[in-house]
Amino acid sequence: MSKKYNPAQLGLALPGSSQLARPQRVIGAKYKTGYHWGPGKPLPALGQHSIAKHDIYDNYVDRYISTLTKNHVQSQLKVTIVDGFCGGGLYDLDGATISGSPLRLIEAIEAARMTLTARREDFNLDVDFVFIDEKAAHVAFLRDELIKRGYGNLIGNNIRLVASTFEEAIPDVITAIRKKGRAHRSLFFLDQYGWSDVKLATVRRIMAELINPEVVLTFMVDSLINLLHEKTSTLSALAAIDYAREDVRALLEMKDENGAKGWKRAIQNTVYKHILDCTGAAFYTPFFVHPPESHRDYWLIHLSKHHQAREEMGNVFWETSNTMEHFGSAGLNALGFDPNVDVRQGMMDYMFDDDAEARSKSQLLEQIPLLLQESWKNGGIVTKRSLFESRANDTPVVGKLVDSGLAKLRDEGEVVILGKKRDKNGELKTVVRERADQFQWDDEIQFPREPRLFSFFTDAA
Ligand SMILES: C[S@@+](CC[C@H](N)C(=O)[O-])C[C@H]1O[C@@H](n2cnc3c(N)ncnc32)[C@H](O)[C@@H]1O
Repeated sequence: MSKKYNPAQLGLALPGSSQLARPQRVIGAKYKTGYHWGPGKPLPALGQHSIAKHDIYDNYVDRYISTLTKNHVQSQLKVTIVDGFCGGGLYDLDGATISGSPLRLIEAIEAARMTLTARREDFNLDVDFVFIDEKAAHVAFLRDELIKRGYGNLIGNNIRLVASTFEEAIPDVITAIRKKGRAHRSLFFLDQYGWSDVKLATVRRIMAELINPEVVLTFMVDSLINLLHEKTSTLSALAAIDYAREDVRALLEMKDENGAKGWKRAIQNTVYKHILDCTGAAFYTPFFVHPPESHRDYWLIHLSKHHQAREEMGNVFWETSNTMEHFGSAGLNALGFDPNVDVRQGMMDYMFDDDAEARSKSQLLEQIPLLLQESWKNGGIVTKRSLFESRANDTPVVGKLVDSGLAKLRDEGEVVILGKKRDKNGELKTVVRERADQFQWDDEIQFPREPRLFSFFTDAA
């Protein structure tokens, strides 16, 4: 389905809304550049920002599979990987041919399979891929490349190629995932050009109808802001992200209240909160990708229903330190939704590097005692999970940073941490974690029997 520019139906066809995602046109090039794949056409050029994104995709797949196969007794894992905007699968990078997202995803699974079968020969990593692209020529190009790489026998079996829009394909995809098994483990990589090709209602449906889905959504927030800036009368495309005319009017009114500069950040805050509320995902990780070759940022939003999923994606961002930016401060609660606070404040120096880690740790050392105090006052058992699970969103903090804060408080005699360990007979026993520097989510954090005289906790109940 090709899109024609229709000012009454604003969407990706609008000038400006998809520029960031598309490669720049090369002056004098024989073919118009862009993401076009076909026989005899030059491969599209791969931008730096796409490399960062592909690295995140395959690092995440790697973590995902290893987290779900930790249990060495396990011999099978069923997963479906959906690339909803897959393209033709190959790019040009300075004269070299580079794999696009569908091939990177297959390669990541093959690498995981090798690790698993080295551990246990009969391990059955049962992965189905669904590659969707609205352009039949792109799907045909990908099919040829898959055949060249020896995956031909999987096409129609473990690899489904679908030439349609993501929105049209999704009902069948959901049905197939539900049929595959009870756990519905599925990863959706939705690399849309702009911000309106993936309806939030569809993400909501994925979250509601599947038990264990995760979505990695590209969202070109700057394109949306430009659109709001440029067009004030015809905003029907905003229905894709569940905005009614009154909502749009309210967004535009914020312009008068905040001034042009403040408006952009107020919009970012509002839109971001709105997206999360609309998707029904309990856990999320929002980070900016700041492409060096463009002044426009985009968000890579990871949505899931499970705390561990958000934890693993947070770890991927820390591993991909130099291209990802968190748009907020260090520590917990790092994203306030106060329109007067610049969401990007401190962002330029929050690059998931050593400095950011040091700042997050020191912020946590102030925040953890307050949280503990509050939780102890409320009574009940306080665990690492109970403290952090509900605060896992809107923060660059991941488990290992929390562990470092807890270990420091333990070493200072401020807390006692209890865990479970199996004894020689296989029985679970409670142990005091005296020297550990990593803790389990269900480890219990207690106030010490003999508190220190000058303590963070002297006021604790
Ligand atoms: C940026 S390219 C491919 C990106 C690919 N994820 C990668 O990183 O290699 C985006 C692709 O999405 C396709 N596309 C655009 N709108 C679509 C839609 N609504 N549904 C499915 N595919 C779409 C385009 O034809 C194009 O091939």
